[in-house]
Amino acid sequence: MNIQGNSSYHEVHARSLTDPEGFWAEAAKEIDWIEPPKSIFDPSQGTYGRWFTGGVVNTCYNALDRHVEGGRADQVALIHDSPLADSVTKFTYAELLNEVQALAAIMQDFGVAKGDRVILYMPMVPEAVVAMLACARIGAVHSVVFGGFAAKELATRIDDAQPKLILSASCGIEPGRIVQYKPLLDEAISLAGSKPKACIVLQRPQLTCDLAPGRDYDWASLRRKAMNDGKKAACAPVAATDPLYILYTSGTTGIPKGVVRDNGGHLVAVKWSMFNLYGVKPGEVWWCGSDIGWVVGHSYIVYGPLLHGATTIMYEGKPVGTPDAGAFWRVIAEHKAVAFFTAPTAFRAIRKDDPEGKFIRQYDLSNFRTLFLAGERADPPTVAWAEQQLKVPVIDHWWQTETGWCIAGNPVGLGMLPVKHGSPTVPMPGYQVDVVDEAAKPVGPNTMGSIVIKLPMPPGCLPTLWNQDARFKEAYLSEFPGYYKTSDAGYKDEDGYVFVMGRTDDIINVAGHRLSTGGMEEILASHPDVAECAVLGVKDAIKGEVPCGFLVLKAGVKRAPAEIEKEIVALVRDKLGPVAAFKLAITVGRLPKTRSGKILRGTIKKIADGESWTMPATIEDPKTLDEIGEALKGRV
Ligand code: COA
Ligand code: AMP
Repeated sequence: MNIQGNSSYHEVHARSLTDPEGFWAEAAKEIDWIEPPKSIFDPSQGTYGRWFTGGVVNTCYNALDRHVEGGRADQVALIHDSPLADSVTKFTYAELLNEVQALAAIMQDFGVAKGDRVILYMPMVPEAVVAMLACARIGAVHSVVFGGFAAKELATRIDDAQPKLILSASCGIEPGRIVQYKPLLDEAISLAGSKPKACIVLQRPQLTCDLAPGRDYDWASLRRKAMNDGKKAACAPVAATDPLYILYTSGTTGIPKGVVRDNGGHLVAVKWSMFNLYGVKPGEVWWCGSDIGWVVGHSYIVYGPLLHGATTIMYEGKPVGTPDAGAFWRVIAEHKAVAFFTAPTAFRAIRKDDPEGKFIRQYDLSNFRTLFLAGERADPPTVAWAEQQLKVPVIDHWWQTETGWCIAGNPVGLGMLPVKHGSPTVPMPGYQVDVVDEAAKPVGPNTMGSIVIKLPMPPGCLPTLWNQDARFKEAYLSEFPGYYKTSDAGYKDEDGYVFVMGRTDDIINVAGHRLSTGGMEEILASHPDVAECAVLGVKDAIKGEVPCGFLVLKAGVKRAPAEIEKEIVALVRDKLGPVAAFKLAITVGRLPKTRSGKILRGTIKKIADGESWTMPATIEDPKTLDEIGEALKGRV
């Protein structure tokens, strides 16, 4: 395959590796600095060096003020489109700045200052974007917690981040049900050892809530007063290396990892990506259909498009059922989006409801140029269907919360490379992606191994975990010296295309959401009747994978297994949240193990997925696998 074409990719990528400082110094010119960096990369700082040291900057200034000053005041910055609330609301750059200045001033009145943490537990409403930018404006560190997580998960994050303030809302809206946020918030605060000074709560008309006197404040009243008083907070100068946000992601235990994002590196990398990777120009309309609770939402609903002077769409709805499988095409057509970014799972859901693509043809998609997929491996049949139906390039790209932006993708702005189904294409600038064996030695083309990134990672990637340098080094840097371990396995082909095939740890990917099976096992094991358990991801036609829990009950338990299984399902929903989509708990007499006592997860998974499997030589008792097969009958 001729993979050179007219793309400048190879030249650009090579330069980013041979002259990283020159490359990123040039990219940094796209950012307005209060003081330019003294050094582009300082290897002596941080756990593996720091980018743009000595630089002073403000992320909110770059996202809003400079566009207002530069002639985009009346351009729409944010379109909130909510089929669930039946509303479309637009904010120009000037209007968004006004909102952000006021909320930032309100937060200052609560004593929030540079470096203080603020947790946002919010649904997909424009106020959430305002809150993120208001934190950035005053140098506070936001930590957004996805609304589909339960109180205990929120409590863990409160304890780790120790926020001065929490911003939340009365409710979220899911199809057919209103999700009350306030009881979850109250429970989380009572579970947490660290208590916030105050909560600012947005009352949504769909369901209001009671406010705790002395602790909770009504968002709208505070806003009204601040606006009437003409209160505005100025942009605080922060170091490029200061944290912009913490975003918690699943680790290999129930304790999530607090991924830290700095201001300078994030600004430069995310801004660079908007044209060079996504091919979007300032002034154009861009849509990322993720949730602000995920990294993709941070980088590409909020920061990327606004730093670039584009118009961003925030969507509170689903791909299907709100009201139908034409929802995405309606949004793209109505707002004239030129590019759209979502997860393959959404396309599988649409394809199931509208296999012929009838809805697609009801809308004018003439402005639409490119579809980007990420969050999980884009399976070739889904990509092929999307290409055929949409008649635009469909680009898979590979990401992690830790990196904050794409590791491997197909750079539309630099000139697209040929698409190979099943591959997210090639490493982006600054990423030297190697596939290595257990001794950290690179393997040849088309050979599976651990995918690693040569240090230093490019700007935008995490410098460390919040307050946990040692855990960061241990989890990511120690196994393959000189490299960052992605915990993804795969291979590179003879053209340098990366193929990401699956995780090497206990993480599973459910509808594009990253979950730890180890964390779920901790919950199952906490049930008084459970002696032993194993959770693994089994194939699902829409969500890619869903968790399935196998339980061995304690000797002497007399209750019906079905009753206990129901309690287990409810327990995971209560402790982890509905997002886990944990609906399958299966009681077995014993778990298949090796003679040394290791649970044979791989073989159980193959049986559950209906794939062919071979009897492991080390199995303790081969009959246990037949028993698993029996237990699964009619359940998956
Ligand atoms: N607040 C409260 N509950 C939430 C929630 C939120 N913000 N988001 C999801 N949930 C709930 C859902 O209501 C559902 O609950 P249920 O078990 O009562 O039905 C559960 O969590 C699972 O949600 P979800 O994974 O969204 O599944 P779904 O069946 O509602 O929808 C898809 C399936 C494929 C349509 C949906 O997962 C989807 O659009 N995924 C795209 C994912 C994505 O964009 N990922 C970002 C990475 S790029
Ligand atoms: P998250 O941190 O939630 O973004 O999840 C990151 C993980 O999702 C990665 O480590 C991969 O396992 C998986 N992932 C994300 N995007 C892709 C992709 N395009 N192809 C394959 N796996 C992906």
